[in-house]
Amino acid sequence: MDLLDTPCPRSVTIQLSMQTVQRQRISEELRGRFESAKSVLVLTGAGVSAESGVPTFRGGGNTAVWKGMPFDVISSARMIERDLPAVREWFDYRRNLLQPLKPNPAHREIARWEKRFQQFTVVTQNIDGLHQKAGSTGVIELHGNIWRARCVDCDARYEILAGESCSEQCVSCGNWLRPDVVLFGEMLPRGAFELAAESAHECELCIVVGTSGIVYPAASLPEIAKTAGAYLCEVNPERTALSEHCDEVLTGKAGAILQMFTSAPD
Ligand code: OAD
Repeated sequence: MDLLDTPCPRSVTIQLSMQTVQRQRISEELRGRFESAKSVLVLTGAGVSAESGVPTFRGGGNTAVWKGMPFDVISSARMIERDLPAVREWFDYRRNLLQPLKPNPAHREIARWEKRFQQFTVVTQNIDGLHQKAGSTGVIELHGNIWRARCVDCDARYEILAGESCSEQCVSCGNWLRPDVVLFGEMLPRGAFELAAESAHECELCIVVGTSGIVYPAASLPEIAKTAGAYLCEVNPERTALSEHCDEVLTGKAGAILQMFTSAPD
């Protein structure tokens, strides 16, 4: 091939940077809806915490092995019956890893949005508590919270402070305590999904951030919102199972993209 036939690298660069700019622009439509909406729902997944250093599940996280047990075995309902101390120890280990991690710009932006809208709901699949650390209130936690323990019998809940381990026994009834998180093969906490579904049904704008959208019932919330007439927007560096159902897909990391909603249009 003659040198002149090879594509000019500069134009490729220009093309690439144009694509980047195009991908990351928030449309006038979305901006307008964000500014006028009275009711907004944000659904988050592991990706919103990725920039804080929390590993996501797909693409790294769930392939981990702890003391010879795959992630999805040690994090399963069956292990509660088989070896509860091992489950407690595994979540103590994970809590220690999470302890120094801080909310990132995406968590902080979402927390700021709370004041903008008459009705604003954050629904998360994450158990790390970083939305609350950033200042969000009333967060609906579909999969529980690693900073809480729960009695296997009377359902009493206890906060686990940084640096502490999950206690063994419930002070009210003396039964065993377990991490207050949803394990593989378990149901969601009572009422959490119903509350989230109600908000999804009522919202005008639904923003889905950092989830692969394949774990149900969380993944049905955007569908509920869209069917009820909400404008559906996704923020993710990759396409997901939800992308094709969205009115707008913003391709990129949550930290940078979410801040664009409130910054001046370029
Ligand atoms: P996944 O690990 O399935 O997906 C994480 C998503 O985040 C992917 O689509 C990534 O492309 C995206 N992502 C990565 N970095 C990002 C960034 N900086 N900004 C925005 N997005 C980014 O996590 P989830 O969808 O949350 O359940 O997984 C759902 C559930 O599966 C988890 O809650 C967990 C797991 O089984 C339980 O443990 C019960």
